[in-house]
Amino acid sequence: MAPLTEEELQEIPAEGIDPTNPGKYATLLSDLQGNILKGHGRDHAVHLFLQFKPDQTDALKQWIKNFAHHVTSAQKQSNEAQLYRTNKLKGITTESDPFVNFLLTCRGYEALGFEPYQIPGNEPFRFGMKNNSVKNLLRDPAIEEWEPGFQHEIHALLLIANDSLVDLLQTVNQITRELYLLAQVVHREDGFVLRNESQEAIEHFGFVDGVSQPLFLKQDVRKADLRDSFINWDPRAPLSLILAQDPNGKLEDSYGSYLVYRKLEQDVPAFLGAEKFLAEKLNIDRELAGALIMGRFRDGTPVTLSDIPATITNDFNYDLDQTATKCPFHAHIRKSNPRGDTGHVLSSGVTEEQALETERNHRIARRGINFGACDHTKAESTGSGLLFLCFQADITNQFNFIQASWSNINNFVQVNVGPDPLIGQTVAGAERKQKWPLQWGEPETTDQFNFQLWVHLKGGEYFFAPSISFLREMSPNQE
Ligand code: HEM
Repeated sequence: MAPLTEEELQEIPAEGIDPTNPGKYATLLSDLQGNILKGHGRDHAVHLFLQFKPDQTDALKQWIKNFAHHVTSAQKQSNEAQLYRTNKLKGITTESDPFVNFLLTCRGYEALGFEPYQIPGNEPFRFGMKNNSVKNLLRDPAIEEWEPGFQHEIHALLLIANDSLVDLLQTVNQITRELYLLAQVVHREDGFVLRNESQEAIEHFGFVDGVSQPLFLKQDVRKADLRDSFINWDPRAPLSLILAQDPNGKLEDSYGSYLVYRKLEQDVPAFLGAEKFLAEKLNIDRELAGALIMGRFRDGTPVTLSDIPATITNDFNYDLDQTATKCPFHAHIRKSNPRGDTGHVLSSGVTEEQALETERNHRIARRGINFGACDHTKAESTGSGLLFLCFQADITNQFNFIQASWSNINNFVQVNVGPDPLIGQTVAGAERKQKWPLQWGEPETTDQFNFQLWVHLKGGEYFFAPSISFLREMSPNQE
């Protein structure tokens, strides 16, 4: 079959890609790692951050080659999900293999002996997240403030996930033993899905998370279509949003994707305190105060559509709220996906359609999972949060752009909008304080003004998820 063309990667299949009938996407889906086009969906995950031992390159390559047979392809992920659904209908419990991703950093490729032309070329990936220019762009805290494990040079990330925690830990133990002589596990994170009473996935502040995602697969498009009509927001996306050609792929359609990994600690008591303070200051309900910070109520209702929790939907934009009287411009979801806002800026020189198109190309596929307290209502100031992961084709234009050019800055669509109160980083370094959005008026006391950040970066890195054929054909003498 002919390889996919540039145009085919850029087109949006109306119904989404169907892995049960993959047609021209067959090679791509069998060679692409899972979790990219769709989240792995398992309840538990362990992330092992590896540093390769310097004198073990050949043995490491051999290990990666063998291990590649356990890495889950997009095709396998979809087959297993299909089986799970069919069995569930029949009341049968499905036993599935652990879900596995294997990712490399630029330093990891170098440590394995790859030449610069063989290493994926996206600039932030080449630099690494500890690089000064990246740190300054994102306004991240100093590396010395990161957790010690993240301060090490990291070469690879192993993501292993399963619904059964016992099975997962067994797999992790086995892998750790295999790796003992070849690589050091310099850091480990254990993640899990938190759920609310309706069994929806939430984050530690209690808000439903993962509602708005770019969708690629037929099953996801169909599910979204049942709830939303795609009139005001179309969640479908082309493969070009998320895939990058693997320079070492062995097949005609060998693709990979860049992963941004950020450990974001959430200070739950501080967030709840800020919500209370804002509610008192604006004389509104506390839930509404939270929704003004996030852009959605805890149940997922967009605050631009309703000032009480009403219905979870993703079929909305801000066209009828251009003065931001319902949803503030700085609200987390409005900053991270303005849904056409940038086209409403007069004299920008582009049409609304062009602006929307450009905005949509900044979208990311979020694949995060929680860490810390198992009960978010008991989470303390430290120790709990989000292992934020997102896939994209181009880190510069996607994650870095959202964080640096939308979330962090004061002027956004209009002047003095303020940073995103959730994730905006206004000043790099230790003395950083959360800046209170100006629209809410000056707080009366210094204490009130000194809101600490509710979200703190504890470390992170940029990775590439290579094609499976590259991993499988890695050989000790391969350059
Ligand atoms: C601890 C940190 C974070 C928390 C608690 C958080 C929470 C949330 C919640 C509750 C939503 C709404 C539900 C949804 O649409 O899925 C959301 C949406 C979103 N978040 Fe975050 N988030 C965090 C960090 C980030 C970061 C670092 C970024 C990127 C720079 C980001 C980008 C987005 C995007 C793009 C959306 C979807 C917006 C839309 O399409 O309407 N988030 N987040």
